[in-house]
Amino acid sequence: MRTEQAKTIYLKDYQAPDYLIDETTLTFELHEDHTLVHAQLVMRRNPEKGAGLPPLVLDGQELELLAVSLDDRELAPGDYQLDDSHLTLQPTAARFTVDSTVRIHPESNTALEGLYKSGSMFCTQCEAEGFRKITYYLDRPDVMSKFTTTVSAEQHHYPVLLSNGNPVASGSEEGGRHWATWEDPFKKPAYLFALVAGDLWCVEDSFTTMSGRNVALRIYVEPENIDKCQHAMDSLKKSMRWDEEAYGREYDLDIFMIVAVNDFNMGAMENKGLNIFNSSAVLARAETATDAAHQRVEAIVAHEYFHNWSGNRVTCRDWFQLSLKEGFTVFRDAGFSSDMNSATVKRIEDVAFLRTHQFAEDSGPMAHSVRPDSFIEISNFYTLTVYEKGSEVVGMIRTLLGAEGFRKGSDLYFERHDGQAVTCDDFVKAMEDANGVDLTQFKRWYSQSGTPRLEVSEAYDAAAQRYTLTFRQSCPPTPGQPTKEPFVIPVALGLLDAQGNDLPLRLDGEAAAGASSRVLSVTEAEQSFSFVGVAAKPLPSLLRGFSAPVKLSFPYDRDQLMFLMQHDSDGFNRWEAGQQLSVQVLQELIGQHQRGEALVLDPRLLHALRSLIEDESLDQAMVAEMLSLPGAAYLSELSEVADIDAIHAAREFARAQIGEALFAPLWRRYQANREVSRHSPYVAEESHFARRALQNIALSYLMLGNKPEVLAACVDQFDNSDNMTERLTALAVLVNSPFEAERGRALQLFAEHFKDNPLVMDQWFSVQAASYLPGGLERVKELMKHPAFTLKNPNKVRALIGAFAGQNLINFHAVDGSGYRFLADQIVTLNALNPQIAARQLSPLTRWRKYDAARQALMKAELERILASGELSSDVYEVVSKSLA
Ligand code: TRP
Ligand code: ZN
Repeated sequence: MRTEQAKTIYLKDYQAPDYLIDETTLTFELHEDHTLVHAQLVMRRNPEKGAGLPPLVLDGQELELLAVSLDDRELAPGDYQLDDSHLTLQPTAARFTVDSTVRIHPESNTALEGLYKSGSMFCTQCEAEGFRKITYYLDRPDVMSKFTTTVSAEQHHYPVLLSNGNPVASGSEEGGRHWATWEDPFKKPAYLFALVAGDLWCVEDSFTTMSGRNVALRIYVEPENIDKCQHAMDSLKKSMRWDEEAYGREYDLDIFMIVAVNDFNMGAMENKGLNIFNSSAVLARAETATDAAHQRVEAIVAHEYFHNWSGNRVTCRDWFQLSLKEGFTVFRDAGFSSDMNSATVKRIEDVAFLRTHQFAEDSGPMAHSVRPDSFIEISNFYTLTVYEKGSEVVGMIRTLLGAEGFRKGSDLYFERHDGQAVTCDDFVKAMEDANGVDLTQFKRWYSQSGTPRLEVSEAYDAAAQRYTLTFRQSCPPTPGQPTKEPFVIPVALGLLDAQGNDLPLRLDGEAAAGASSRVLSVTEAEQSFSFVGVAAKPLPSLLRGFSAPVKLSFPYDRDQLMFLMQHDSDGFNRWEAGQQLSVQVLQELIGQHQRGEALVLDPRLLHALRSLIEDESLDQAMVAEMLSLPGAAYLSELSEVADIDAIHAAREFARAQIGEALFAPLWRRYQANREVSRHSPYVAEESHFARRALQNIALSYLMLGNKPEVLAACVDQFDNSDNMTERLTALAVLVNSPFEAERGRALQLFAEHFKDNPLVMDQWFSVQAASYLPGGLERVKELMKHPAFTLKNPNKVRALIGAFAGQNLINFHAVDGSGYRFLADQIVTLNALNPQIAARQLSPLTRWRKYDAARQALMKAELERILASGELSSDVYEVVSKSLA
């Protein structure tokens, strides 16, 4: 934790390891005030590295070394070197065994990395470099070893003892203790190691794989949560089947376990055979979890399960290759979610998220490529770029190769590299080899950061019946990358005739017209494509399904956007046309607000939304998506200088106008859907999600009119719902309303009812932290004193501080700088408790260049204050120093 130690690691410096570890035998003796770890490492010289026996440098941090021996010879302090992150020994033969015993302190580990306690249970988080806080080791993903683990603990408090692989032996010891030994037959890097000890209950099920093997499935939770596991179990079984069908991947051990813990830095972790999850990513039942939470559980269970192949069986050579497993696995879980629910809605949600958050990252001071070139702290690179943009990159490969070609490529990748630690180049090579294509230029997506812009213009030659689209691509400079080479940009498109039908497409030079939607590959800085046999000027539908993560612009007018909203055969682009229309209308309002003019909403937006609401034949989830205006964060992203006040005023004005002008149809659809909800039990399925989504967005518009009948309906929905989706929306709407009595009552009832459920209390904190009403900071400060709040629990930090700084833009960006000062104070405290969480909470401050001069100065001053606050973790140091650079 010393700032001056911060050292940059470069991809170009990668060296294969000098030594390998064939077998790792671990023994953990867990106690309340310390833990003893004994490690036996059966090692050998890496044959790739030639003869010679260089010193063996083992990683280790915060370990108290009690004993170390080399081939059974105990070493004296003079026989080795120890510093605060390494133990260095001198081997004397090509094969040898290292034994070490260390003492560690999980009971006081607040960083939640390595071995730590969450409540009364012991658990681990080793990715990326946490194993070195457990024992001295070669803690790098290209060192893969067979692990055997024995855990011993007091039996009464820790009846369940788990590790990776299969249970092979267990027994009891004197003094009320017991032990269990687990053996993982698959070689793995240390980051996939896991251990759990606690008083846990489990739900059990089984799965028969495609080759007929039986796999025991267990989800372990604290006893009070045993009634909230069924949805995760169902999701797991669906994931296992889907991976067999979509990718031909079968599970490999006889047992698959998930453990839910309350204190966890991220969503979940794919440890071999023993996934450890944030309880928020496992527990779900109607009364306590929203539809969104149910879908998140399904997606994360799938994500971690899919890592068994994309991550575990085939792992990363080094951490620069992180997207090899994360981008690919996000792509795989997105495919799964699309198949389980509405594919179009899933795509809309993912793209909205990417454009709001990843695009902001890509234009900020922490911008990096999908495969970064350097880092100070790898934990800071579990980013939207590595995950979401990485998934888009895999998706573009699939778009270019087609579904069948892509599957051939993934089959070859898994077959060729099973049991290996490989690179993004190996992944692309498998795709190339399986399809006989050259993806050299495409690979710039891995090495160049920044979001490409793609400007499109059209020309129509009526006499020649020729329609030409010209694409100009460019990419802004990003840190360390002043200039960029052209990308390969797959542009899926169609051309609509005056009736809104897709035209058959024939490019100049082609013999005949073919499909009506096709993919053009834009590879040059400027490139034109001409379609022939086009009888009248068409309207282009561009980048269908968001076929590339770029900022596309085409000079559509509002009438054309309304036409696309109605007629585009691509569902995603119908939504996209609506978003572009809303953005144009909102930007006009923002301008009016900035010039001090009266706000006037373009009635065409109301007209377009009215036809959506009134058309009962449309998918209700799509209508709900199309009714949601672009968020303040997205509008900020689109602005040169984000004027938070104008954006907020414009959005709220538009929302109020929509609520008023469309009151009647919204009220009708709200009441109809609420009536169905009232009489049907909760089901976590697509059509039910859709009904509740429309019902809830309708309620949020209706409540803006302050009508007593709507207030009554909202209170009724709060009081008389059997599920959290309806109840939480009613609460959120009340919290943002002027009805003080109803708001206070609902908040109080909710807290009383759910005080013993931490995940529900997180929701309670979040809706208040995100409330646009004035006085946001005071509310948040008050809530930090609530008995259910603690800075030691990452979910609480995210629910209150994260929601305030990330979602409550109008309050966070208060002109007096109070929001910034508050966040900086929290980060200084968190830096000492949990560096990973501290660094993540910093991201709103890193965007300081987006705001006006006064706010820029205030935000910068807070970053400087953090930098000067004392000893910084490498996590916080990296983000702050790069933001100020
Ligand atoms: N590999 C995990 C995933 O599935 C990410 C993860 C979980 C992680 N816990 C972490 C990364 C802690 C860094 C630190 O995406
Ligand atoms: Zn992952």
